[in-house]
Amino acid sequence: PRWAIYAIFVAGVLLILLCCLCVCIKCCCRGNKKKQKKKERVSLKALNGKTSTALVQPDVGDVDYGATKKQRGKLLYSLEYNAALTELMVGIKQANSLLSADLGGSSDPYVKVYILPDKNKTCETKVFKNTLNPAFNEQFPFQITKASLLKSTVVMQVFDFNRFTKHEIIGELRMPLGEVDWNHVIEEWKDLAEPAKFEEENLGEICFSLRYVPAAGKLTVVILEAKNLKSMDIGGSSDPYVKVQLALDKRKWKKKKTSVKKKTLNPYYNESFTFDVSFQQIQRVHLVISVWDHDTMSRNDAMGKIFLGCDATGNQLRHWADMLSNPRRPVAQWHSLQTSMFIPLRKDR
Ligand SMILES: *[C@@H]1O[C@H](CO)[C@@H](O)[C@H](O)[C@H]1NC(C)=O
Ligand SMILES: *[C@@H]1O[C@H](CO)[C@@H](O)[C@H](O)[C@H]1NC(C)=O
Repeated sequence: PRWAIYAIFVAGVLLILLCCLCVCIKCCCRGNKKKQKKKERVSLKALNGKTSTALVQPDVGDVDYGATKKQRGKLLYSLEYNAALTELMVGIKQANSLLSADLGGSSDPYVKVYILPDKNKTCETKVFKNTLNPAFNEQFPFQITKASLLKSTVVMQVFDFNRFTKHEIIGELRMPLGEVDWNHVIEEWKDLAEPAKFEEENLGEICFSLRYVPAAGKLTVVILEAKNLKSMDIGGSSDPYVKVQLALDKRKWKKKKTSVKKKTLNPYYNESFTFDVSFQQIQRVHLVISVWDHDTMSRNDAMGKIFLGCDATGNQLRHWADMLSNPRRPVAQWHSLQTSMFIPLRKDR
């Protein structure tokens, strides 16, 4: 009958329309997904981490990945205080969706940890190459009494490693330790903040190369240059020179120094020093590099220093290890100068 033909025709058209509709919806979804892919990957991971591991819930606000705010990424850290050992254990677990510092859209992140106001010790994690989501999983112990703990702040700074330029800071966390409930282990995700510029004293950087020839037992240090040194004189300039010292078994051993460069905060030296250090001694040696202001009127002042050796940490240890694993080849690297060091140097007897 004629009505049956009409009915089949109508059903067919409906079916085709339905198919079109399905295809359309699918297309739209895929488009949206692509747009959100980055955001979701990031925030989901962060959220998962939070619900499964967090004992302390951070603010709800930090889940919002708004496009307006410059996101530096997040850091998962832990804090635990052992009163019996008077030891604070700072755990750097992982970071997520870090701001990329390199042009390639990636970073080589590592984390620096220290405690203010007594910045006696600075710890660093390993560098993770080419990632914005590193899993550090390192723990750093700090000896500190309960009384000073409550007046201190722990600072965790995420840096982008670069062998040839100053390491750029990606973001940081500052946790006032007086506000922490020490009855629990703290483990939480936090948004990295813009680094505080005021108190991070910048003493400048120094570049030098290290070369070790095991067969000959020769350690060569070439002091190349320094930049952005802090001025020690009232005139706003300094007359810097560099001291190169070796300690063996934590006792002062050998010492040399560069020439004095007049009235500059960016001196260029290119001066080479060679020391006899046997293969048996190299594991027990500390190399101390310090920059001094030459002052004819009064005592010379130290403008900053660093030390290298098998028990150095972070950037300094990296340089020392690179030297040892590349025998006979000079390895150059920039270092940030520090005020205080934790070199356990013994007094000469
Ligand atoms: C850090 O050094 C200061 C003085 O330099 C000292 O009074 C303090 O006890 C030290 N703190 C720790 C935790 O070692
Ligand atoms: C640095 O010193 C070395 C050896 O003294 C010399 O060959 C080199 O040309 C110097 N480099 C510069 C840039 O002056």
